[in-house]
Amino acid sequence: MDGSVEDIGERLRATAGDQKWTTERVVSVDYWTPTMLSFRTTRDERFRFTPGHYARLGLVSDGGELVWRPYSMVSAPSDEQLEFLAVLVPDGAFSRALAKLRPGDVVHVERGSFGFLTVDQLATGRDLWMLASGTGLGPFVSILRDPAVWFAFERLIVVHSVRQTAELAYRGELAALAERDGAARREAQLRYLPVVTRAPGATPLAERIPQLLANARLEEAAGTPLGVETSRLMICGNPEMARELRQMLGARGFATSRRGVPGQMAFEKYW
Ligand SMILES: Cc1cc2nc3c(=O)[nH]c(=O)nc-3n(C[C@H](O)[C@H](O)[C@H](O)COP(=O)(O)OP(=O)(O)OC[C@H]3O[C@@H](n4cnc5c(N)ncnc54)[C@H](O)[C@@H]3O)c2cc1C
Ligand SMILES: NC(=O)c1ccc[n+]([C@@H]2O[C@H](COP(=O)([O-])OP(=O)(O)OC[C@H]3O[C@@H](n4cnc5c(N)ncnc54)[C@H](OP(=O)(O)O)[C@@H]3O)[C@@H](O)[C@H]2O)c1
Repeated sequence: MDGSVEDIGERLRATAGDQKWTTERVVSVDYWTPTMLSFRTTRDERFRFTPGHYARLGLVSDGGELVWRPYSMVSAPSDEQLEFLAVLVPDGAFSRALAKLRPGDVVHVERGSFGFLTVDQLATGRDLWMLASGTGLGPFVSILRDPAVWFAFERLIVVHSVRQTAELAYRGELAALAERDGAARREAQLRYLPVVTRAPGATPLAERIPQLLANARLEEAAGTPLGVETSRLMICGNPEMARELRQMLGARGFATSRRGVPGQMAFEKYW
């Protein structure tokens, strides 16, 4: 703020509420590993989103300019704060600023939320499969933190593929949800299938998700077959994984939503 005409104009627009973003504060920062973290921010009370959506976050870089990147919400829509799961990628402009983030720091959050990785994009079905690599797990945690999905399906299956065990973010929360007796609660039963690909023996499943689909070990571990009539799939994270799964599932008859016709699978690629 320098008191210039532009600066006063900017402040007036912000006061009038027509700025594209709101300015929030970091509430907490928690590292799962030196390069993977979850952080929470304050939330503008007018900010609305559907679980599975992402928002654009803005941080001030070393050079002083604002850098914007999309991030999926991990928090439930009813949470009064926002939560995100992030990886620090080498030499990333946003990652550099994110690595310095501390409680009390400013994070800008664009007013709109976006994306097609939401339950309402899919045709109704019996089982919902959520396949994630790395930070692609985030939107699925948001979906599971919202009560609606527990009444919309009979089975919920979360598959989280990471390189190392420590990257199994939200493992405790997901394992506890999977312990609940769905039938007794008249809600879906969660199956949580962690996959660690670079530490042999860490998890019963250790191959990449497309391979686990090809050799049917995924269906075996989930205890239910994949079928167009009953299964709905959401896939999030690594774009190569998404491409491969799209091809494999397409060959088995699964389709994405098109021209208002709800499909059986939905994708979000992170780069
Ligand atoms: C719709 C959408 C939602 C996203 N949500 C998230 C999220 O919830 N959490 C998150 O960490 N990132 C998310 N991303 C990626 C995020 O926007 C940034 O790209 C990432 O944080 C790195 O920013 P950067 O400027 O440091 O590097 P960039 O220059 O943006 O990326 C550099 C390279 O890093 C790799 N990379 C980028 N993001 C990831 C990632 N998440 N995991 C593994 N490798 C990656 C890719 O090889 C990419 O080319 C999302 C992207 C999209 C398109
Ligand atoms: N994770 C780390 O230890 C680490 C440390 C420092 C920096 N980084 C950087 O952080 C970024 C993200 O790494 P990340 O580990 O979160 O994401 P990632 O490379 O996408 O790996 C996450 C999971 O997805 C799997 N995967 C990768 N490519 C796949 C494909 N084509 N099909 C199916 N599955 C696939 C990986 O298996 P594989 O193990 O078989 O690849 C792993 O289980 C990268 O830029 C990396 O250089 C990562």
